[in-house]
Amino acid sequence: MSPGTWRVLSVVGARPNFIKLAPVARAFAERAGVEHIIVHTGQHYDDEMSDVFFRHLDIPHPAVNLGVGGGSHAQQTAAIMLALEPRLKEFAPDVVLIYGDVNSTLAAALVASKLGIAIGHVEAGLRSRDMTMPEEVNRVVADRLSALLFAPSRDACENLAWEGAACAAVHFVGNVMIDALVAHLPAARAAGVPARFGVPAGGYVVATIHRPGNVDRPDTLREVCDGLARLARERPVLFPVHPRTREAFLTNGAAARLGGVTLLDPLSYLDMIGLVADSALVVTDSGGLQEETTFLGVPCLTLRPNTERPITVECGTSRLVASRADAIVAAAAAATRRAVTVPNRWDGKAAERIAGVLFDGASYTQ
Ligand code: UD1
Repeated sequence: MSPGTWRVLSVVGARPNFIKLAPVARAFAERAGVEHIIVHTGQHYDDEMSDVFFRHLDIPHPAVNLGVGGGSHAQQTAAIMLALEPRLKEFAPDVVLIYGDVNSTLAAALVASKLGIAIGHVEAGLRSRDMTMPEEVNRVVADRLSALLFAPSRDACENLAWEGAACAAVHFVGNVMIDALVAHLPAARAAGVPARFGVPAGGYVVATIHRPGNVDRPDTLREVCDGLARLARERPVLFPVHPRTREAFLTNGAAARLGGVTLLDPLSYLDMIGLVADSALVVTDSGGLQEETTFLGVPCLTLRPNTERPITVECGTSRLVASRADAIVAAAAAATRRAVTVPNRWDGKAAERIAGVLFDGASYTQ
């Protein structure tokens, strides 16, 4: 490394990580004196869950893919830790950046902290306060171990302050998911995605379900499928199926109840935002979609008992709905497109602010 060069190493592994990385990688690429190394853990490995995002979002090729794949939480987290440790020693970065709340985030936080490398957490401070969610455990530990906490919203800053994070560590930079959306929405809209899927603009539903809380319990998954099938009697319902959900469908047969619903393979980022932007309604348990629908003003039924993104309910279009067929149908009937207040600093510039904090000494502390 030449003198004065900053070496930043980003660890990513799962689909939502790649979307968050894209604007950050772009902001770093514009900086002289910054070397950005990307390590892919291989948590997500199918082309449609991983490589297509690197291609379409112009993310530089990872320096390394650790190739860990699936497994139980302990197996996956431990495999990432074992494979990552020698790489962090080899690259010896000034900072490790971690993203969101997946197992790759947790594993990288544990390894980097024990090697004494400073950690920056992109999307810090979100809390569902539901420790039965694996992601909540990952969030809490990742934040506790991070020296730089890049928060997407004011409530996230408040959570961190309440937990005792140092004021100087918390930077309210905004939401990198919205950076990606702002950058790619024009191309997605121009691509005429609804017509390609044979659905009328403004007249269809997009559904995505993958959380263990919905997918791993057969009764719950059956209720969700029944709810979607009833929505499909009124208008087209497009359901891109996540690998976890596909596995559940194979074992418990719930997919047989999805009469009238169009099942799709996982979609590329551009196809997904192109479809969501012109949809009448989104039914989901995804964190990213709660945010994207809020920005787009599309009604969103969030099939969860809680959310780490309450701002999407308070200012945005998301509504928490029980994973029961009757509740889904009733909430869908009540959902209408309406004007929303886009949360502060969800403006496409969060990644630039992160670069400013890291390289220019900028501060977005409260
Ligand atoms: C993970 C994240 C979740 C995030 C989601 C986005 C954790 C704890 N959870 O959940 O927060 O919302 O990613 O997608 O990290 N699989 C494939 N192909 C792939 C990827 C996964 O077949 O490309 C299979 C795995 O082998 C496994 C299942 O899908 O059997 C679940 O994958 P896993 O990485 O364990 O967690 P996700 O459910 O994807």
